[in-house]
This record gives sequence, C-alpha cells and structure tokens, in this order.
Amino acid sequence: MRSFAGRDILSLKEFERQEFFRIFDVADRLKPIADNRQNSDLCADKTLVTAFYQPSTRTRLAHEAAMHRLGGHVTGFSDAKMTRAGDFYQESIKDTVKMLEFYGDVIVMRHFQQGAPHEAAKWASIPVINGGDGWGEHPTQILTDLYTVYREKGRLDGLKWLAVGDMRMRTMHSLGYALSQFDCPITLVSPPDMSPTDEFKAELKQYSVNFKVADHVEEAIADADVILVEPVVQPDYTKSRDERSGDVSLTPANYRITRELLSTKAKSDAILLHSLPRMDEIPPDVDITRWSRYWQEAYNGVVMRMALIALVLGKME
Ligand code: CP
Repeated sequence: MRSFAGRDILSLKEFERQEFFRIFDVADRLKPIADNRQNSDLCADKTLVTAFYQPSTRTRLAHEAAMHRLGGHVTGFSDAKMTRAGDFYQESIKDTVKMLEFYGDVIVMRHFQQGAPHEAAKWASIPVINGGDGWGEHPTQILTDLYTVYREKGRLDGLKWLAVGDMRMRTMHSLGYALSQFDCPITLVSPPDMSPTDEFKAELKQYSVNFKVADHVEEAIADADVILVEPVVQPDYTKSRDERSGDVSLTPANYRITRELLSTKAKSDAILLHSLPRMDEIPPDVDITRWSRYWQEAYNGVVMRMALIALVLGKME
C-alpha cells in the first residue's frame, strides 16, 4: 500500500480500497485521545495552516481541533477578505501558497473555485488537504461519513445507500467515487434541476458504481441501510460568500426525512447521516430518534482529521 506520508488529500478518486481501511484503523487507534478529551504530543513539532476562502464551521474547526488533540499548532485564515487574496491585489493561489508553506507543515484549504486545492498542491512542498472546492469534492467529509458507517455497522460491503440532495454537490461527488471501492448500491434522489450531471453519471458507470435514480425518498427509503441527506435549499457554492436575502423556500416533501417517514418506512436499524449545516430537510425532532447519527458523524469528523493529519505528516504509518 502507498504511504500517506507527504501526500495531498485532494480527491477520493485517488483512493484504493485498502487505503480507506488504513485510515479507519489509524482513526480507531487515535480515537481514545479524543474520547478522553485529552491532547497528545504526537504532532507537537508540527503546524497546520488553514486557508479558508469560503465559510465553514465544521471542516475548519474539526481540522483545528484534530491538530490540537495531536498536540500540534494551528495558524491560518478563515476570511480571505482580510488577506491579500481578497483585497485589491487578488493574490494568486500560487503566490499565497508559496507563503503558507513557510508557515506550517500541512495546509487544509476550502475554496469556492473547483480545483483550487489542486492548484495549491502544484506549488506547495507540503501536503494539501481539500476542505471542499466549489462543486468539486469534499473528501474529508466523506471519509468521515464512511468511517461513521463502518463504526456503526461494522462493515461497508453489502450496505444499501440512499443519497438525498443536490447531486451536483461536492460531497455527492466524493461519495460516488468512494463507493466505487465497495459493494454498496446507491439510490440518488434530487430535484430535477439538481440531478447528477451527465459527466458524473458517466464517471459512476466508468467506476462501476451500482446506482439508480428516484424522484421521491418514499420510493427508496425502505431498502436503505444508510440514508445520507444534504440540503436542496442552499447557497451557491461557487461564490466566496452567499448571504441570505429575504425568505428562503421550504424543502419539498420528496427530499425531506421526517420522523414519521422514518417510523413508518425506514428499516429499524438504518442510520441517518447529514454533514450539516441543515435547513428543514431533517426537522429537529428527528435528532433524538434511533436513526440519527449526525452528531456522532460530526464527532468522528475530528477523529478522522486526526488520522489524516497524522498520516500525511508521517507520524503514523
Ligand atoms: N460539513 C461541512 O462541510 O460543514 P462546514 O461547511 O461547516 O465546514
């Protein structure tokens, strides 16, 4: 198996089956540190640089929390407008990254332009982790989600997935690429204007992903072992910032997972994931049902990032 030391984490297209299990194994080994709310000294001589050109709660703070749990240091920016990339100069990715590589040992970047972290990785002499790029990919989120399923179900192969939301979304792309490595049939449910692009469908076929599309969650939920939901009422992910102006629309019933739907139609042991933030597609009264796993998923997001950071920094093999 390839070593993770020094590697960029840009896309799950690049991941081999055994590499997923390698990361899960390292995450399991590091998890007790987070479980016990302790910080270790594994990465005490290393610094994480966060370069966030788009808003984030979980991805940036989970990476930062992970680095703190590993005993490392954190620097960076969460508002590119306060850097030279976001003012008059519009400093390029190349020029920015040529600075950041002197300030730390691994960069996690979120950007509104698809491919920006890949561009950063071209110029950086230190590993770059993609924290979400436009419509492109969100590899660390889907690694978190698969790790959550693996821990909850004890396996990945043989589980049926239902994915609900905007199929142009970066999480959906990373999910499709990841499932190509497992025996996991998936049903995709999205509004017509958010359906998988022809290019993405061609990729799923090329990677032998067993997928079908449906119009309504009610058609597909009864078979699902894993239900992964994303908003269909959401900002434009190709913008650096998309403010809410006025009222927003409600999520149509086709794409909502309610307590009643789960109680009457879902498998008793199905699990419900949402990377968050959410709108009204999962009402708050679902939170305390036995299907909900999104808080656990969020916690696993810290553990997963501990594993990734330790691996790319060569602190674990
Ligand atoms: N799931 C996720 O990417 O959340 P943030 O946008 O808050 O990072």
